[in-house]
Amino acid sequence: MMISYIFRSTILYSMIDLTIDFADVKFPNPFLVGSGPTSGNPQKIISAYRSGWGGVVLKTIGDSIVRKSVRPMYGAMRKNKELLAFENLELITEDPLEVWDKYLKIIKEEEIKIPIIASIMGGSDHTEWIKLAKWVEDRGASMIELNFGCPHGEPERKTGAFIGQHADLVYEYTKEVVSSVGIPVIVKLTPNVTDISEIAKAAENAGAKAVTAINTVNGIIGVDIEKAQPLPDVNGYSTYGGISGPAVKPIGLASVSKIYKSTKLQISGVGGIFDWTDAVEYFMMGAKTVQSVTYTMIRGFEFISEWKKELEEFMKRKQYTLEDMIGIASNKIKTYEFLEKVTKRRTSVDEEINNVRGEIYG
Ligand SMILES: Cc1cc2nc3c(=O)[nH]c(=O)nc-3n(C[C@H](O)[C@H](O)[C@H](O)COP(=O)(O)O)c2cc1C
Repeated sequence: MMISYIFRSTILYSMIDLTIDFADVKFPNPFLVGSGPTSGNPQKIISAYRSGWGGVVLKTIGDSIVRKSVRPMYGAMRKNKELLAFENLELITEDPLEVWDKYLKIIKEEEIKIPIIASIMGGSDHTEWIKLAKWVEDRGASMIELNFGCPHGEPERKTGAFIGQHADLVYEYTKEVVSSVGIPVIVKLTPNVTDISEIAKAAENAGAKAVTAINTVNGIIGVDIEKAQPLPDVNGYSTYGGISGPAVKPIGLASVSKIYKSTKLQISGVGGIFDWTDAVEYFMMGAKTVQSVTYTMIRGFEFISEWKKELEEFMKRKQYTLEDMIGIASNKIKTYEFLEKVTKRRTSVDEEINNVRGEIYG
């Protein structure tokens, strides 16, 4: 027992391994740039690769639904200087397929040695999804992510989160794509559903290798009370947008945990990852890889070397491999009834409030 412990510690101490097999593809590390403006052209993708990211999910590519997003398309909710939440009204890429054809050629010529995951979104019929899936496969994508999660603009056209909110559609579209391509298919889920595990099960039954959770959460970032104007202010109007950043992390963690506990799918966790510790929380809830978008918009790509170093230090200290961490905290999530049996203290409500107040305000 002691010998095996010493042996294991020595191995772990001498070589921390950040490589991970995710949906049958090998990644040099579990940190991916998620789909968004920081993965929308070759310069950014090359820059992410050179900074040491483990993979990139391209900005969602489309055909018939490609159009310009409204402007302004971003809004922020802050407390002092800290960003609490971010809203976007950005649609999928504004670049047509001819432009992406050039982008993907550049990416190929640069010999980017990390997996490139092509995110795609077709319109409201299967054929376009299949066409796009084959199109990105022919141009060297390592995997495909089906964007069933965008909560604004696209649902009005019966795609994006509209598909992700109907388990039967998720099943149909996923099955069609899976049977048309030879590379692994990942389904990106919207948190704006009653039970995300039901939707994930539909993706699993249709042959998806993995899911990405979560896309943005539908919301309104704020109201300018002087003008009675919802934000972002698009020429005097606004619409329900996609919220990301720190505020959505709890929703992302719960979503990942629910999927982890109810399916055998591999999971890429995303939503409010602003630090390496946030990533570890996602691993412990059941994610095998993690993605970051809003933070890369604010900070660029370079910080990833620091995150990897910190993660390695943590793994050394705790003697964890990456695989060890996956789902270990999710296994401690039980029913309410279970918690009632293990509750030790019966404090008053006021005492509980005071405890929380103390934790927050010191
Ligand atoms: C400006 C912006 C644009 C986005 N565009 C896409 C997109 O094209 N496709 C997609 O699947 N997700 C898109 N997302 C969602 C992100 O990939 C991610 O799921 C979400 O922002 C939560 O992660 P974060 O808190 O790290 O940003 C976008 C997010 C932002 C902030």
